[in-house]
Amino acid sequence: MTVADWLAALDRRAELRARAGLTRTLRPRAAGDAVVDLAGNDYLGLATHPEVTAAAARALSAYGLGATGSRLVRGSTDAHHTLEGTLAGWLGTDRALVFSSGYLANLAAVRGVVRPRTLLVSDAHNHASLIDGCRISGAETVVTPHADVDAVAAALAAAPGRPAVVVTESVFSVDGDLAPLAALHAVARRHGALLLVDDAHALGVTGPAGAGGVAAAGLSGEPDVVVTATLSKALGGAGGVVAGPAEFVRHLVETGRTFIFDTALPPAVAAGVAAAARLARAGDDLRAELADRAALTVRRLGAAGLPVSAPDAAVVSVTAPSPEAATAWAADCRDRGVAVGCFRPPSTPDSRSRLRLTISAGVSRVDYERALEVIVDCAPVSARSEPGLRAPQSRTEVTP
Ligand SMILES: Cc1ncc(COP(=O)(O)O)c(C=O)c1O
Repeated sequence: MTVADWLAALDRRAELRARAGLTRTLRPRAAGDAVVDLAGNDYLGLATHPEVTAAAARALSAYGLGATGSRLVRGSTDAHHTLEGTLAGWLGTDRALVFSSGYLANLAAVRGVVRPRTLLVSDAHNHASLIDGCRISGAETVVTPHADVDAVAAALAAAPGRPAVVVTESVFSVDGDLAPLAALHAVARRHGALLLVDDAHALGVTGPAGAGGVAAAGLSGEPDVVVTATLSKALGGAGGVVAGPAEFVRHLVETGRTFIFDTALPPAVAAGVAAAARLARAGDDLRAELADRAALTVRRLGAAGLPVSAPDAAVVSVTAPSPEAATAWAADCRDRGVAVGCFRPPSTPDSRSRLRLTISAGVSRVDYERALEVIVDCAPVSARSEPGLRAPQSRTEVTP
């Protein structure tokens, strides 16, 4: 195949995606735009908090724009150490190690827990970064049906004497439902397996002092639990973290490819995220507002006949009749000043398209309520009336 043939083949594939309503395009975003953001993941509104941006600005002038190398090569700044100490203290783990993204943290964590003959047991709704971590690790992976503790137990029972790791998110990123973490941990412990939890959508949002889903399940600091998270959602910044036993974190420092061969998180970001973590930890009032808005969202959208998931944290999912309908719905909302997430295959675990709304305490209450009205106004008629249209799967599902 010539290069010209290959490029033509790429064009044909793009055409097929377009026909299936699955085109993805980059839209411009202006600084300080007036859009009400229910698409991003800035749950607590900390991305623009003055204490956060001031901390980042101080480190920016002290260290410059980038880390200029990996921490092993270039040195480890006080901003990185402070952030890791803050995160370990908050999550209740021995140690925490910061990566330049949550994606890279997950790749390192999954690969890091794998020993010879390890079996990975991965939830069917896991994020792409966990899936890729399983793939890159080279370990045998069994994908179990979503949130199915019995299936996990059966997979572990079928691998007696083998090291095993149960891999799950705590709050699932598309539908916002909770993993049954306590039950998964009990099953894993019975087998002598580890539990690896991605707390990306829970950190800052759920658990005591916002310490996340692992803390909410009473599993903080357990020696057989490894926690990962992105620092880009409730903490409003960027980067990722792996937190767990000191021996495991040391193993990642010395062998984690996405730690060793990656330029470190910029110190300015580390300093801003540390400030955000302190604010998030003290942010029970913000979490109360999130819970209130979650309930309001379900009431308003449910009353309009829309198939809406009952959020266990701050992610709400509303099923759309088709990828095209989801795209048009999101575009209409955007035209009216409201940004919502539009999730279509392959970003959905069950090939159903939906709008994904991020409940944000960073948006004023008035704007938030207006945004809900816009979402209802812009809903395609078939989203309200189609008999087969179910709300996204949630363990606390609401049927409008
Ligand atoms: C559940 C989950 N894990 C990991 C990531 C990746 O984190 P990052 O964006 O920091 O790479 C995301 C999304 O961003 C996510 O939703």
